[in-house]
Amino acid sequence: MPTLLSPFDLGGLALPNRVVMAPMTRARSPDTVPGQSMARYYAQRASAGLIITESTQVSAQGRGQRDTPGIHTAAQIAGWRTVTDAVHRAGGRIVVQLWHAGRLSHGRLLPAGQAPVGPVAGAADGATVHGYGPDGTPAQVPVATPLALDLAGMHRVIAEFREAARNAVAAGFDGVELHAGNGFLFEQFINAGLNTREDTYGGAPIANRLRLLLETVDAVVDAIGRARVGVRITPFGHLGGLGPFDAEKATWLGLAGALCQRRIAYLHASDLGPAAFQRDLRKTFGGAFMLAGGYTPASASAAIAAGAADLVAFGRPYIANPDLVARIRHDWPLAEAGKEAFYGGGERGYTDYPPYSASRTAA
Ligand code: FNR
Repeated sequence: MPTLLSPFDLGGLALPNRVVMAPMTRARSPDTVPGQSMARYYAQRASAGLIITESTQVSAQGRGQRDTPGIHTAAQIAGWRTVTDAVHRAGGRIVVQLWHAGRLSHGRLLPAGQAPVGPVAGAADGATVHGYGPDGTPAQVPVATPLALDLAGMHRVIAEFREAARNAVAAGFDGVELHAGNGFLFEQFINAGLNTREDTYGGAPIANRLRLLLETVDAVVDAIGRARVGVRITPFGHLGGLGPFDAEKATWLGLAGALCQRRIAYLHASDLGPAAFQRDLRKTFGGAFMLAGGYTPASASAAIAAGAADLVAFGRPYIANPDLVARIRHDWPLAEAGKEAFYGGGERGYTDYPPYSASRTAA
């Protein structure tokens, strides 16, 4: 029977264990270019079966927070190359989470103060982002009202993801994960409450609301191969101003079925609803299934043993425990992360968490 620490074949990529580092925005790229400190941070965590990077914008228009990295310029690709080299030298595997924030953005985060884009011209009421105030200093700001994407705009988004996937391979990544959760662009299209478009990319038909994501998956698969592509979703998460909608379960199961046909490397789900839905989703997808959200080593081991998932992603535990796999293996205690350094800052609260053996020696 598989355990959390037994190996897994992820589309031909040999993972030594099933412990995944979940994608986490840490906002350490002031110029959108990954630097040495990010290389150090990810390399420290290379014993994970798989590392998924923080959300990484596929274009300047896709950015939704300050100090996040991109993967659409030569400098960004070169920066990421130092990260992937460091992780690979340390014996790890790493995929990049490709991200378009859609309407969850603000003019001062975008080129020449452009408006963000979305399926419709409706802002996320009450949502804010880490952006810049009117004087250009860092501030929490309300999201702007987006422009509804037209057909050319949607084709541009798809092309940006295709190009970003190619850039990811050029930067040395082992694959890509498309971010279709947390209320960002793809989920804005999937959500029937928001996406009331009257063309073939919106409205009541489930296939319409899945179309932008699936056409993007197809473009990315065409560019780099199905074995290197994963998708992350947060069904019932309702983040970023999205709400419940009719046929919600059927929509997510429809997506799982469409991704099953495409035989991509994995489906990654967080903030899932009831256990029965989780089982249906796994069964409908049929391929490698990753769960995330509030797991402890014990609950993750139980999920693997019960066959609920093939892989479990840990977010917050990876912030303070670079050697999480060793701590699980030896049943060592986990350190707690201080929230104040989650987003932005320097090395403190980022690369200065020691492995357990070192912390014990120091004590
Ligand atoms: C996150 N999460 C997240 N998810 C994602 O898909 N892309 C991202 O960039 C981020 N960024 C991020 C930053 C920080 C500081 C946290 C704490 C979380 C969500 C994350 O991947 C995970 O799903 C949640 O943290 C829940 O798992 P844990 O932390 O309970 O293991």
